[in-house]
Amino acid sequence: MNEKTDAILDSIADKISRRNFIKGVICGGAAVSSAGYLFRAGNIFGESGSTGDRLITINVNGQDRRVDVMKQETLAWTLRYKLGLTGTKLGCDRAECGACTVLIDDVPHYSCSVLTHTVRSKKVVTVEGLASPEGRLHPVQQGVIDEQGFQCAFCMSGFIMATVGFLKQNPNPTRAELAHGISGNLCRCQDYDKILTAMMRGAENLRKGNAHA
Ligand code: FES
Ligand code: FES
Repeated sequence: MNEKTDAILDSIADKISRRNFIKGVICGGAAVSSAGYLFRAGNIFGESGSTGDRLITINVNGQDRRVDVMKQETLAWTLRYKLGLTGTKLGCDRAECGACTVLIDDVPHYSCSVLTHTVRSKKVVTVEGLASPEGRLHPVQQGVIDEQGFQCAFCMSGFIMATVGFLKQNPNPTRAELAHGISGNLCRCQDYDKILTAMMRGAENLRKGNAHA
């Protein structure tokens, strides 16, 4: 190849890569910080083709979010890698640990086991959506601070979301009732007693109106 051929090939490669980048950002509706994950998601699921026909709107934390979603994509994946809501954790990624728990229409769900397409007409709340717009913590979040709960805290957002959902049904649980209610969440640090104390404090805060509900 001569210099002229090299220059033409460089120019074509540059245009292709810029076009792909722009298409990814528009269809992803993602924050700049999560743009890198967009391309990763496509590669992992073996999809890299048309994105326009997968654009959907989902309501997350009170906001309608336009996002490019693959048909087999889970809500946990969309939240973390398309919308940048990394407070939702991925532990087992197969409905065993509860780290990915979010509320869907006020009911706790494992977001790793919910297809994003199925929540289009529903309201999704993640741990990022619990505090007030002014930054006042939800009573259950405040309970964690009050009791200095959790060791590594990887499981924390899942436990908080499960507890917030449970308290909507039973705002005045016994310790045993709450333990049973959030038993679908696991803690690898085995810090269950302390976690339950923090969640019970959160329930108490909620009843007393401490912090934002
Ligand atoms: S990551 Fe969803 S249940 Fe473990
Ligand atoms: S505090 Fe570490 S996993 Fe629960």
